[in-house]
Amino acid sequence: METIVSGTRPTGNLHLGNYFGAVKNFIRLQEEHNCFFFVADYHSLTTHPKPGSLHENVKTILSEYLGCGLDPEKCTIYVQSDIPEIPELYLILNMMAYKGELERCNTFKEKVRKQKENINAGLLTYPVLQAADIIVHKANKVPVGKDQEQHLEMTRDFVKRFNNLYGVEVFPEPTAYNYGDDLIKIPGLDGSGKMGKSEGEGNAIFLVEEEKSIRKKVMRAVTDSGPTESNQEMPEAIQNIFTILKIVSKQETVQHFTDAYNNCSIRYGELKQQLAEDIIAFTTPIKERIKEISSDEENLKKILKLGTEKARASARETLSEVRQAIGIRTL
Ligand code: TRP
Repeated sequence: METIVSGTRPTGNLHLGNYFGAVKNFIRLQEEHNCFFFVADYHSLTTHPKPGSLHENVKTILSEYLGCGLDPEKCTIYVQSDIPEIPELYLILNMMAYKGELERCNTFKEKVRKQKENINAGLLTYPVLQAADIIVHKANKVPVGKDQEQHLEMTRDFVKRFNNLYGVEVFPEPTAYNYGDDLIKIPGLDGSGKMGKSEGEGNAIFLVEEEKSIRKKVMRAVTDSGPTESNQEMPEAIQNIFTILKIVSKQETVQHFTDAYNNCSIRYGELKQQLAEDIIAFTTPIKERIKEISSDEENLKKILKLGTEKARASARETLSEVRQAIGIRTL
């Protein structure tokens, strides 16, 4: 059994890409492993969100994770800022994180390029906070995408440094949890790239999206003028539509439209109509559960209380070892 940690910044609603790229796998992982899933609200402070929207977004992520099937009895669900041991460990790790390596981090360099007006120390030490999130539970596996691999590598560096400096084996070196073939990347509806809300309105379909809006977005998805030769290779935009179709539709549907493409009889309008209906059939039950969960504030509180207790128990144990190792001992 592995100990797994994963955090999500509260920046809005989850879309199909989040679901198939992460959440669906979390639901499977919670059955077999010791999983900690949390809302990384401190991490999102680097961009100074409005207090009201931060609060709403935390609630949104929680309700959506739960609505998708994360089970508070099977895994540990919590909000980062409810666990004071995390910033404590972050402070300690900051003492062994070097300015140079933090400046060389790709995500930081990208922020420096894109967000010139707000390059704060929190951005610089973002990977240190992420390391604290991970090792506070002595995690050995982190399900991460390509863009997060460097942060995980830095986490391993901090772990090695800590263990070396204090001559202890407090932390294991966490590695990426590899889904192997199970990792599905959902493309966006704009013809290229992956689904994401930062790629523009209409590119992502959210789990709580209304039917009308799903139809509208799918009907507007980028296509081309259609195949002119049989068995012609599909351009990226069309491949993308088929990728989503394969995930939400029946095998026969996929076969039907693949054949139609190959013999040039395909009508993209029909393809999109079918895709929209199949997305709706897939998301509707999830959407209903999310609505049910988010409307029951008392229940959410209860779930969070349980998660916070479990997460703190684990974090407290780690921090007591850390403090002991460092020489921070009560007189
Ligand atoms: N940096 C991650 C992201 O942007 C979020 C995150 C914060 C995280 N702490 C984590 C992910 C710990 C995995 C483990 O997606």
